[in-house]
Amino acid sequence: MAAEFVVVANRLPVDRVQGPDGEDIWRPSPGGLVAALEPVMHGVDGAWVGWAGQADLELAPFTANDIRLIPVTLSAQEVAEYYEGFSNDTIWPLYHDVIAPPQFHREWWEAYRTVNERFARAAAKAVAPQGTVWVHDYQLQLVPEMLRALRPDVTIGYFHHIPFPSHHIYAQLPWRDQVLSGLLGADVIGFQRAQDAASFTAAVKRRLRYDVKASTVAVPQNDAPARSVLVKAFPISIDTTPYLELAARPDVQARAAEIRESLGNPKRILLGVDRLDYTKGIRHRIKAYGELLAQGDLTVDDATLIQVASPSRERVDAYVHLRDEIELLVSRINGDNDTVGHSAIRYLHQGFPREEMVALYLAADVMLVTALRDGMNLVAKEYVATRADNRGVLVLSEFTGAADELRSAVRVNPHDIEGLKEAIMVAVNMPRAEQSRRMRALRKRVIEHDVNAWSKSFLDALAAVSSSQ
Ligand code: G6P
Repeated sequence: MAAEFVVVANRLPVDRVQGPDGEDIWRPSPGGLVAALEPVMHGVDGAWVGWAGQADLELAPFTANDIRLIPVTLSAQEVAEYYEGFSNDTIWPLYHDVIAPPQFHREWWEAYRTVNERFARAAAKAVAPQGTVWVHDYQLQLVPEMLRALRPDVTIGYFHHIPFPSHHIYAQLPWRDQVLSGLLGADVIGFQRAQDAASFTAAVKRRLRYDVKASTVAVPQNDAPARSVLVKAFPISIDTTPYLELAARPDVQARAAEIRESLGNPKRILLGVDRLDYTKGIRHRIKAYGELLAQGDLTVDDATLIQVASPSRERVDAYVHLRDEIELLVSRINGDNDTVGHSAIRYLHQGFPREEMVALYLAADVMLVTALRDGMNLVAKEYVATRADNRGVLVLSEFTGAADELRSAVRVNPHDIEGLKEAIMVAVNMPRAEQSRRMRALRKRVIEHDVNAWSKSFLDALAAVSSSQ
């Protein structure tokens, strides 16, 4: 039953939710991590260790969508302290450049350690002798070290899906040394951008005083030569196949036309798609758009902004406040600008299935990705992948990982509201020929560097390390 290849992530790829009649429904989990990893699991002797998204749920291992799933149980208090607390109210804001103030609580740290230990034990139990374990993301930074202590025979990779901050921010973390040591239990540590890898090695040098040569950290061992850990950027991507297939489907294209029709046929549709998160710059985007309407650069007859803001981390205070702020702003702008037939902003606080997302991407003349800080931003890549017609304009924040690769997007600093307004107008008025020139370059990059290329490059690096040891 032991698996050669084990993924460990906070979430399983499916969440258990209650249907209208109280029945169990398994729904794909939110966020980019799950979307990126799912295709990696097909065709391997693998298992996925993770949480099913509800407190106090005791579940035996099961198989869904051809993937062997090993659920880890979290109590209600652990959900509050490990998931909502330390992961999403300490590490998340700290690693996203303190856009919101991180909270530091010792009991949250204790819960984080306890839960990381539980994940490490589950992985240690699931993996075959000399097998490979791939640990994911900021919720599980202590797992590599804990797992190595339990299973020194196993090859361990860790991939960090979010930014790693520069040292002066990282240094605020009261448990900064323990977290670095936790991560250094891995053989390969992957980051989204070269800048994140450099921030990590700089922290290792300053805090732990370990030797770092090029991208290799030498971790001292008791009674043994130092262990080498490779630290490198492996920019993540999407599985392009379902996006290309859906975009080519006549019913999805018809749905895109229907969306435009139902908005009263505006000349331009602008689109934002995000988890409702303060890192995404949703407020900045809506503010800029509202000012363009107020100044008369745009009118509700020419333009509609569709903002999909999927519910996220709804019990964390910063998210509760953000929702209030956004909803106040949206209703003010709509109140000031709407006509009976046209709306300035169509705001959807909902998640949608992939078909509907692709129809929205096909309907959108301008895609607005204005994150203040984002590890990668896969929405930008999804939009580009669907635009086989080479139409549409991507406005992309320079503070996303995607900006390193998607050089032909219209780049913005979302903090600069005037610059953002100018970029929106450039996008709205961009001639077809220029749209097509830029979109071709963007698509080439995303299609050539898809999620399979990403996982292959990471797993090849991991295999090279394990064979050299
Ligand atoms: C980001 C993180 C993921 C996380 C996802 C959804 O993509 O990198 O680790 O799973 O957001 O957030 P949630 O808190 O709902 O898991």
